[in-house]
Amino acid sequence: MTTNPTRQTLEALGIRGEAEILAQFAEVRRRFDEEAARRANDDAANIAVMRNAWIGRTAGAITHITDNWLKPAIPEQKRIVGKALNELKAHVERTLEELRTRAEAAGESGAGGARVDLSLPGVRRTLGTRHPLRQTLEELELIFLSIGFSVVEGPEIETPYYNFEALNIPEHHPARDTMDTFYLSLPPTPGKPSPELLLRTHTSPMQIHTMEQQKPPVRIIVPGRVYRRDNPDSTHSFAFQQIEGLAVDTDITFCEFKGTCEYFVREFLGPKTRTRLRPSYFPFTEPSAEVDASCFACDGRGCRICKHAGWIELFGAGMVDPAVYGFVNYDAKRLSGFAFGMGVERMAMMRYGISDIQLFYQNDVRFLRQFP
Ligand code: FA5
Repeated sequence: MTTNPTRQTLEALGIRGEAEILAQFAEVRRRFDEEAARRANDDAANIAVMRNAWIGRTAGAITHITDNWLKPAIPEQKRIVGKALNELKAHVERTLEELRTRAEAAGESGAGGARVDLSLPGVRRTLGTRHPLRQTLEELELIFLSIGFSVVEGPEIETPYYNFEALNIPEHHPARDTMDTFYLSLPPTPGKPSPELLLRTHTSPMQIHTMEQQKPPVRIIVPGRVYRRDNPDSTHSFAFQQIEGLAVDTDITFCEFKGTCEYFVREFLGPKTRTRLRPSYFPFTEPSAEVDASCFACDGRGCRICKHAGWIELFGAGMVDPAVYGFVNYDAKRLSGFAFGMGVERMAMMRYGISDIQLFYQNDVRFLRQFP
């Protein structure tokens, strides 16, 4: 192990002549320069540590040289050591000062020491926008909120009872075929039959949950995601969104139902839009209807958007079938109401003239940017 020569006297090092003394100083300076080069990009804190090791008052190398080489030197060596020490000290101080200034400047302008040009334009961070489906959903919600409906949400995982049976769709009913879905098998719990669960095929189960929990009057809309075993194409997705509506009270007639549909259509598609009810079938409404609107693009004359029919199919609806009230202990003789269910994607497609439902799910910013 080599001991640090600055910790020993020149005598102990066996150094006498001028050449040997200057060689010792040259070696110390070489070591200093080497460290300074290595630390050229160090931060200010590291430079402060180096400064302390070299010119710190109690433990710095210059102090050791002063104490061990200069002070005990014999008279003829003192002048040589003193001069060399002064030169070394000046060099060390100057270099350390340069290192400190550079480290501090780099610290101020960020990593790498690059200067910031304040005249350059700033970094533009683009703001995101709400997804077109979200925008459509919020617009639909606002229309119904403005006429006294409130928003409720429910589970995406359902039992067949809520998704089908309580909506008057018994097992083996053909209406189930149009709503095939995904069934979940849970690990069996000892001593209990494992519950049959499925992903809801429509938001209609929330009609049942709400009426079970709440006495009439009921005026709700239910936005939410639903699932079907439909093959994806330009108008179908296996997961999509619906908004359900339900109004039940003691004096709701077909007039209220039709008036609500017309109000909604005019709010959503413009005041001139006409509404048409076409007979349809749903097990949980009677009578049932498909609600159509006159084409907003051609005003009913016929165009590409309405496929030259002049009308656009909007949603399914009807008066609540009295059989449904039986499942929730509502008095079917005293109460009446209407329900409707619409696909949010299809409403957005129709509204914005979008021809492929898959565009909503691909997150292509070229598509999304068109809905600021
Ligand atoms: C129903 O789901 C009924 N629950 C609606 C209803 C509620 C009727 C209350 C009466 C009273 P339907 O199966 O027609 O009905 O679906 C409703 C809407 O969901 C359709 O009009 C369509 O816009 C949308 N839809 C259906 N299948 C898909 C799919 N695979 N991808 C995207 N949208 C779909």
